[in-house]
Amino acid sequence: MFYKKFIAAALALAAASASCAAQLDATFDVRADQPAAQISRNLYGHFVEHLGRGVYEGIWVGERSAIPNTRGIRNDVVAALRKLNVPVVRWPGGCFADVYHWQDGIGPRDKRPLGTNTSWGNIQETNAFGTHEFMDFVSQVGARPYVGVNMGTGTTAEGKAWMEYMTAPPGTPAAKARQQNGQEAAWDVPFVGVGNESWGCGGQMRAEFYADQYRLYQGFLHGYSKNKPFFVAAGPDSDDYHWTETVMERAMDWRERPVAPLLYNVDKPLFNGLALHFYTLASNDWFKMGDSAGFPEKEWISTLKRALTMDELIRKHSAIMDRHDPGKKVALVVDEWGTWYKAANNQPSSLYQQNTLRDALVAAVTLNIFHHHSDRVRMANIAQMVNVLQSVILTDKEKMLLTPTYHVFDMYQVHQDATHIPVELQSPQYRHGEVSIPALSVSASRGADGKIHISVANLDPHHSIKVSARLKGFTARSVTGQVLTAGAMDAHNDFDAADRFVPVALKGVAIVDGQLRAEFPAKSVTVLELQPSGTGAR
Ligand code: AHR
Repeated sequence: MFYKKFIAAALALAAASASCAAQLDATFDVRADQPAAQISRNLYGHFVEHLGRGVYEGIWVGERSAIPNTRGIRNDVVAALRKLNVPVVRWPGGCFADVYHWQDGIGPRDKRPLGTNTSWGNIQETNAFGTHEFMDFVSQVGARPYVGVNMGTGTTAEGKAWMEYMTAPPGTPAAKARQQNGQEAAWDVPFVGVGNESWGCGGQMRAEFYADQYRLYQGFLHGYSKNKPFFVAAGPDSDDYHWTETVMERAMDWRERPVAPLLYNVDKPLFNGLALHFYTLASNDWFKMGDSAGFPEKEWISTLKRALTMDELIRKHSAIMDRHDPGKKVALVVDEWGTWYKAANNQPSSLYQQNTLRDALVAAVTLNIFHHHSDRVRMANIAQMVNVLQSVILTDKEKMLLTPTYHVFDMYQVHQDATHIPVELQSPQYRHGEVSIPALSVSASRGADGKIHISVANLDPHHSIKVSARLKGFTARSVTGQVLTAGAMDAHNDFDAADRFVPVALKGVAIVDGQLRAEFPAKSVTVLELQPSGTGAR
């Protein structure tokens, strides 16, 4: 194992230094003297849907499987996810959430009804993975559950009954069935979504209709015993600002009804989060999907350009939310984001795709953007965790690999719950053909232990970038870094060489005369760790 990792490190560094031949310069100021909002750990959330091999095979193999498992859940996948400190997992969909009837997924597994997954390729749904299995999975991973209530083909009664089933205190009539099925204590259900993409697969609703539907559901959905869930309303598709305007307007109008103060806390909006969905395609066209590997540079830059538009979307949706909710009580929850390419093996409804260095850059850029908006964006869920779209893990029968996106989530976990520190950046541009984007994407934070972490993505596939950065309000004693890079834009891990592409130590990074000096290889993601010296203030 050590030998394999040594070779991997040597190859990555050789690739990095080969591409260092051409080099650009940049500067930035790290404003530790201007600490901003806390970066919620929930920005590092994941999404799992009954889709392709995401749940079945990727997570659930069943108790009788030869693949090592705990109560049917793969041990290798759980162990890898535990290392990421996954804060929250969204389930059961996605489009699937609006056709899912939770009662089908409880009770003895051999008695559960067989169904058809009409959202994704009409494949058989065994219902072997239901509420109990999901709660077991998140608990094995060390994460918290985020469940999606079915508004599309469900009813308020069904949603209400699910909330009671999950959260009613033991001994109450509603908790009896749960106890009979093996779970005595009420589960903690901290996050509840109401409908998914209700403008699309969730019912083709207009914003006005959804807002009214949401109000209806909200009247009947609540946690029992001590459970006080954070409710997430279905939000806009990408740049649908009318949706945000309409749903936000209706979120704040408790006050308009005279009876409201008697019944509710009118300082609380009708929902706690509004979900934004945005996918990174290789173009802006859903009918021209790019390849997940073996793509030209034209698609490298177009993919990264599209990923960067997340910043504009958040700024514009936040501006609308600010008008209705200046106190920022409602969070923008980006509960589906990630890359979406042509599915492998000619199976469009599996959404299985390769994950390469380009995906690592998309993850880094997106997480940096979330950090910059951490006052409003307080939860996000990458789509999807295993074997679907931009996964952190891929499996093939008993084999498993960690993708480049996994390594970014691993390197970036130091930002979870840290204090965001603004960075003033003068980036060189990276150009290809007619397209031009900033070559650098940077974000920084200070942890409770006083260390500063700076994440840097170099989007230019040809030039390394030499940086000298001023540290304002912080004196650094030393700096170290980890970098993920490779020679090819589509470098990825294979099931037979799962450790080929891993982060390695960044060479040559230093503190010189109080400034940070580093050279970031072409097409790389780096996380630097700066140790404070003395009191840290100056
Ligand atoms: O993540 C795949 C699908 O993308 C989800 O089911 C849906 O919500 C979105 O359109």
